[in-house]
Order: sequence, then C-alpha cells, then structure tokens
Amino acid sequence: MGMNDPTHPVHRTICGESGVWARVGSFMASLKIEARRERKRNWTIRISLDPAATENHHLSHQHPPQFAYETDGSSPLEEQAATTDHSLFTSKDISSMEGEGECSDNPFTSVMTLTKMRVPHVPQRYVLPPSQRPTLTLDLTANLPIVDLSTLHHASQRSLTLDTIQGACKELGFFQVVNHGIPLPVIHDALAAATEFFNLSLEEKMTLLSDNVHNPVRYGTSLNHASDKVHYWRDFIKHYSHPISDWIHLWPSNPPSYKDKMGNYAKAVQVLHKQLMEAILETLGLNFGNLQKEIEEGNQLMAINCYPACPEPDLTLGMPPHSDYGTLTVLLQSGPGLQLQDNKKKWLSVPFVEGALLVQLGDQIEVMSNGQYKSVVHQVTLSAENKRLSIASLHSLPINKKIGPAPELVDEQHPVSYNEFSFRDFLDYISSNDIADKRFIDSIKKSV
Ligand code: OGA
Ligand code: NI
Repeated sequence: MGMNDPTHPVHRTICGESGVWARVGSFMASLKIEARRERKRNWTIRISLDPAATENHHLSHQHPPQFAYETDGSSPLEEQAATTDHSLFTSKDISSMEGEGECSDNPFTSVMTLTKMRVPHVPQRYVLPPSQRPTLTLDLTANLPIVDLSTLHHASQRSLTLDTIQGACKELGFFQVVNHGIPLPVIHDALAAATEFFNLSLEEKMTLLSDNVHNPVRYGTSLNHASDKVHYWRDFIKHYSHPISDWIHLWPSNPPSYKDKMGNYAKAVQVLHKQLMEAILETLGLNFGNLQKEIEEGNQLMAINCYPACPEPDLTLGMPPHSDYGTLTVLLQSGPGLQLQDNKKKWLSVPFVEGALLVQLGDQIEVMSNGQYKSVVHQVTLSAENKRLSIASLHSLPINKKIGPAPELVDEQHPVSYNEFSFRDFLDYISSNDIADKRFIDSIKKSV
C-alpha cells in the first residue's frame, strides 16, 4: 500500500515551506518525514504525524499514526511498502503521538500552529453560520471619540472633557484616550513581550495550558477550546495582575523579559484605570471616595490576545460579540480589527491610532449606573495578511464584591434594573454557559 492509494487515510499532500501537511479525514495534519539509512544498505522512511503541529491529537486513535517503509537496498520502495505492516508501531509510538492537552471533546490546537502550517482554508470548526460572519469592509469610523486625558488636570478644561466622556459613555460605552500617561516605550515593550511569548514553541506554552476559567494564569485558544462549539481564531495568555506581587511569580518565565515588560505596563494601566474610574463616576454624579478602596483593591485580569493572519477572515472571527464583565477594559492593540456595536446595534470599525488606548465600559459599570451607561458589545475581526496582538486589561471590583445599582441612581422613575453580581459570579456563569449564545448581563437584568 503506497501513499498514492486513494483509500489510504493520507490522500492529499502539499509541500510548503514549513513542512508537509495533509488532510486526514476532515483534519489537517502536519507530517514529519525522516529517512535514515542503516549500515549503508537499508533506508528507513518514516512518516509520522508531527504532534506539535497536528490539528487533532486524537487522530492517532482513528488512523495509524506512523508508516515506515524499509528497503532492503535492492527492491523499489513501493514494493517494499506493500509488505509493511502498520503493527510495526508499538503502543508507545502511538501514545507519544498524542498531545499533552487535557482530555476533552476538543483537543488543543493553537491558531499560531494553523497559521504556521499555512492551511489554505480554516478548518470546519472555525466556520461561522452566515448570519454571524463579519462585514470586513465597514467604513472606518472616524468620529469615534478621542479624549485627551491631560486636560483632566486643568481646571478650565476638565468639565468640557467630562462632558465628552459622558457623551461617549451614554452613546457608545467606548472612547479612545491619548496623553494617558503611559510612555510609548512601555507600550512597545509590552507588545514585544507578547510577540515573543506567542512565538515560543507550542510545548513551552502548553505548560500554562488550562481550560479552567478560575485559574489565575492560563494559556489557551478560542474562548475555551474544551467547550466551544464554534472556535475562534485567537490564542491567549491571561493572568491576574493586581496586586502584582501576588501573581507575577506565576506569569510566564519565558521570554525572560516577560515579567518585567508586561509588569511595567500592568502597573501603569492599573493607575490609569483608577483615574478613568474617578472621571466616569463623576459623570454619573457618584462619589469616588465611597468606592476608592474597592477600586484600589480590585481585580486586574490581563488578556494578551494573538490573532494570527487567517486564510479566510470572512468566515470566522477572533472573538465573538460580547461585553466585558468588569468596570472598564483598557485595550492596547497593534493594529485594526476591533469592531463595536453602537446603541442602534450597528457595527463600527475602530480606527487604529498609534499610542492611543481604548476604553470600554464593562457590565459592572452598566449595573452600577442602573443602565444609564451600557457595556459595549464588541468583536474581533481578522486579516488575511497581518497578525494582530492586543492586550486587554480587564478591571473589576474585588472578586467577591457584589455590585448592584448605586442607590443614588435609583428612584421611582428608575427602579432597580439589575440583580447584584460579583466577578466570581461571572466566572461561575462562563464555566457552564456559552457567552457566544447569551450575554451574561442579560442573565442579571430584572424583568419589568
Ligand atoms: C477581550 C477583547 C479585544 C481585542 O479580550 O475581551 O475583547 O481586540 N479583546 O483583542
Ligand atoms: Ni472584550
């Protein structure tokens, strides 16, 4: 039986720069081909699924994982191969072919791997139903608000800036900030650390792999590779970041500069979050002092996202539409790709502004404001040419702190519209619900 036999499970091979890959059943597999000659006579050709770059580590259960052909130095390969029995492979071979991913319905494959394999199509599990596919050609929305935060320090300009922020929070739940106090080198270093991390070997990154949303540090792909029905073209590392001394020892130790570079950025964003909260609470007429301690002791989860170039960006997304759970998310991006929904549910593309940071209102602000402000629904689109990185710093009040509508914002015309919830409640929700199906905030809205 030779490689050209159509009943052979590997029925199509393509040579690419990064090796050879094949479609095996409905999966893409990366093949490793080794030829070895022993005692100057016999060649052994060994073809194996490359476990580091094979899409479905459980393939080995369904198909013989390796084929070895040995010549005796005289007869042609094909003839020799016909007599080769797959039982040549021991169970040890088979178990060594399986991925280190946890047992689940969805074996782990990073999208960095798929991009490296140069798959010409996205595998089926990434293909969204037509109604959920993105429009990639939206006009860049030039009039999204950009707020110069330095003006908050000038008494004469402060109230005008607060008006701009208030308008942005009411209409969009989103604005960009410049002159935010985080130096450009700190921003560039954080992005460089992220780039280096995702460029590490899969093996190295897998040491942090986890699908448990309660873990303070975890590497993963899609939203949650273990439970997602549709997959999203994203790899991520997430880690708790505040107070930094509680968590930094758990962060990636590779690349060696990661902790320093990401740490400097994390600390700077934590300071920025507090300033932004002070301004936003003022626009709601709420007393910052009442919440200051809880803001200072709040949770900061950094989600470092990698969206490699995608062969079919019109069929899939990097992240599905969702809102973030916390108070504010401060987002740093390396290029365009983010889209958000305005209050008429129209999608807008966020223009890329070098050095600017994006501020998104989360569910905790929506609840606190008793619905005066809405958390912004956003999604991530992909590009066929460019990889995009983002660092989302998701802030929330302490993990067990229940947040309900501020009493100052409740009256007869504005009855309590939401039940209380904590960040932990949100984590419990996403560990058993698919946020691509139903938004968390809809689960805590009071019915009227
Ligand atoms: C997120 C998120 C957007 C982006 O991590 O919650 O929405 O651009 N990220 O990566
Ligand atoms: Ni988000």
